Amino acid sequence: SSGVVRGADGAVRVAGVDVRDLAATHGTPAYVVDEADVRARARAYRTAFETACAQVGTGVDVYYAGKALLTRAVARWVHDEGLRVDTASGGELAVALAAGVPGAHLGLHGNNKSDDELRAALDAGVGRIIVDSLVEVDRLAALVREHRGPAGAPAPVMVRVTTGVHAGGHEFISTAHEDQKFGLSLAAGPDGGDSPALAALLRVLDHPELHLLGIHSHIGSQILDPSGFAVAAHRVLALRAALRERTGVLVDEVDLGGGYGIAYLPHEVPLDPDRIAKEVAQAVADAARELGTPLPRLSIEPGRAIVGPPGLTLYTVGTVKPVRLDDGRVRTYVSVDGGMSDNIRPALYGAQYHAAIVSRVSDVAPVLARVVGKHCESGDIVVHEVQLPGDVRAGDLLAVAATGAYGRSMASNYNLLTRPPVVAVTAGESRVLVRRETVEDLLALDVAAT
Ligand code: LLP
Repeated sequence: SSGVVRGADGAVRVAGVDVRDLAATHGTPAYVVDEADVRARARAYRTAFETACAQVGTGVDVYYAGKALLTRAVARWVHDEGLRVDTASGGELAVALAAGVPGAHLGLHGNNKSDDELRAALDAGVGRIIVDSLVEVDRLAALVREHRGPAGAPAPVMVRVTTGVHAGGHEFISTAHEDQKFGLSLAAGPDGGDSPALAALLRVLDHPELHLLGIHSHIGSQILDPSGFAVAAHRVLALRAALRERTGVLVDEVDLGGGYGIAYLPHEVPLDPDRIAKEVAQAVADAARELGTPLPRLSIEPGRAIVGPPGLTLYTVGTVKPVRLDDGRVRTYVSVDGGMSDNIRPALYGAQYHAAIVSRVSDVAPVLARVVGKHCESGDIVVHEVQLPGDVRAGDLLAVAATGAYGRSMASNYNLLTRPPVVAVTAGESRVLVRRETVEDLLALDVAAT
């Protein structure tokens, strides 16, 4: 996080709080999140997009993608900073509502939403439901009828389309057909007729219970090459023009999803909000002009870029074990008190992280280390490769940087570990946002002895 400073005594402070105090007060492992940094990043994305969109002559809504990390406090922070909240399940929706975010500022996503989730969204009056299949369009229309009666207000709907653009990291491929579960393809349908995307838009227009707000596209995550957004924008706007051509209906809004990449390692360069906002706004403006259509209102859904960098995970080092590799090098295995249950990303995606000993400095030469967890499998790696002081030892506090997104939100109870707390640090103070689970919590779920 931007609030991380190493003091003269070698100990690190986050937003003015010494990590040794954090460990003493809250225990380890703990997710630590710097509130001011979350707020600053939320503001940076909102201002960048508002400025860039105003320059081309349109408006924008920024939705924070709650899947990255959602607690009531986090939802409040980003909402205070003028963001709306995108939810991907009934659970996320409930937390955002409990935080006091008005339904009108919420969106609901999902490729297989349950009737209960859709009803909850209708009850809350969510600002938009992003539909993901023809079946869902019809099901939602029926639920609206049942829920509100035939004269009730229509449910606001966006249709999620797949543009054939997939981006993430450095890979960027463009294909006509899709082989994944999300969205409705822009490519010609199986019978060579209308694309599934156009068919879904037409189907929404057929239902008086639904109000078609616009078209949604999410091209991937941890994107560091912004060119994919421009390609997706052109394709989505072309679909919007095709819909107008066919029906005379011009939808107001285009959502280009999230995916803005962050730096996980010291040498990595994150996407710059101002630059990406300019490029996206320009691409939308260019496409609208080429197609001869008015500019749509824009929306985006960053998750990781808001909460990733402001979060770190604090662990305590337990065992230290040198292992001789086949090539003669020695790798020091440093075990910490958490692991794949609090951060599955290295095991799931081969994700790379940076770690450091934060409770002291050492003048002992660094060694090649691998930070591992305490789970019962060898893939339980927290940081594949990092230089740590040669005298790294039990009791040292070790921090892994940039774990704020998709750490807690993808945490599990594997090996029946209790999930760590989420601790906020703000101007020299810390407070618990989500408490540490206890063994009693785990036993409470286990309701039958035989
Ligand atoms: N909008 C939609 C429709 C999405 O599916 C996602 C992420 C986002 C927004 C936010 O994307 P972000 O800005 O955070 O990249 N668990 C994976 C990431 C999965 C993202 C899924 N969708 C990870 O840990 O890298």
